[in-house]
Amino acid sequence: MTRVLLGLAPGPGGTLSLLPGHVEALRQQFPSTQVQFVWAQDREQYEAELPRAEVLFTRTIRPEDLRRAPHLCWVHSLFAGVDQSITPELRQSGVLLTRSAGTAATGIAEHVLGALIFFSRGFHLALQFQRRSQWGQAEIGPHLRELAGSTLVIVGFGNIGTAVAQRARALGMRVLAVRRQAAPQPAAAPPEAGVPPETHAMAERVFGADQLYRALAEGDYVVSILPLTAETRHFLDERAFSAMKKGAVFVNVGRGPTVDEQALVRALQEGHLYGAALDVFEQEPLPADSPLYQMPNVLVTPHVAGINPRYMDRAVASFAENLRRFLQGEPLLHLVNKEMGY
Ligand SMILES: NC(=O)c1ccc[n+]([C@@H]2O[C@H](COP(=O)([O-])OP(=O)(O)OC[C@H]3O[C@@H](n4cnc5c(N)ncnc54)[C@H](OP(=O)(O)O)[C@@H]3O)[C@@H](O)[C@H]2O)c1
Repeated sequence: MTRVLLGLAPGPGGTLSLLPGHVEALRQQFPSTQVQFVWAQDREQYEAELPRAEVLFTRTIRPEDLRRAPHLCWVHSLFAGVDQSITPELRQSGVLLTRSAGTAATGIAEHVLGALIFFSRGFHLALQFQRRSQWGQAEIGPHLRELAGSTLVIVGFGNIGTAVAQRARALGMRVLAVRRQAAPQPAAAPPEAGVPPETHAMAERVFGADQLYRALAEGDYVVSILPLTAETRHFLDERAFSAMKKGAVFVNVGRGPTVDEQALVRALQEGHLYGAALDVFEQEPLPADSPLYQMPNVLVTPHVAGINPRYMDRAVASFAENLRRFLQGEPLLHLVNKEMGY
């Protein structure tokens, strides 16, 4: 009998909580003789159940919770980004960590495409004229561009990056990508563990992290979808923004601290960048005195790119598939490399 603790009672960001139907579906998939599910309704019950849990499905695993759970073998995070779960305590433990990959990719890709169109079609300008009850046709017209034929550089080319590339290509954009390691050209690319074969075909060229500045220099649009790790903190810094084309648009839907926000503000204020759409920030919530709120060429969204109505259904389905694998001794999907941090 495996004891599974479900730690996803309604909490912060209410849409990302289990519903009774999810728990019922899990109980129907796994016989009660094989798995005992405990759905903690509050923090007190969660803490009381941790000492007996072998498997945990939760948002983030805290070090103090890890200490309370001596029988824990595996944690499945509700989130795709697990930077807050990867603590020194988790690294040192033998506990496996998996993440909910793919649950948000479609919505995030649509969010990114929306942001690109927002700037290319001058919606940011139209809104300013509309708020002043002014027409603005002559002023807006010269700024309008088309995405088709322009180049998109995707920094962080995993599940979400691939979904963005697929949609950008459908709009006629040229797509370049940056991963940790450069990849051979698509035709020559050998099958790689964990990377779907269609991934490389989505980008004309895949650069390595050591070729970042060369890749950035090509982009009319640059979107960052990086996980936060020791290597990616301030990955996009002053030098990176200088390397971008004058007039480029920057989008960040990965993690805020992967960007040096002060360097980004300078690049926007000096007119080197045309605009930025930001969903994630170095400090969240973004403080009220941040200049980003007031900049006319910045679109601020409050870390919502990942939210969609099917998130929980998909996350529960991916947890169920991994639980089946766990019980049968098969390799888990979306296993996090605790040393690499993603
Ligand atoms: N805004 C939101 O609401 C929201 C929602 C969900 C997720 N996110 C963020 O999006 C991130 C990405 O999610 P995903 O599912 O696409 O992750 P993923 O499939 O693991 O992809 C991560 C990509 O980043 C690349 N990368 C990692 N470290 C790098 C480095 N040092 N230099 C260059 N590239 C590096 C990886 O390179 P390799 O391919 O070489 O491994 C991979 O291509 C998450 O970690 C999370 O922080 C945000």
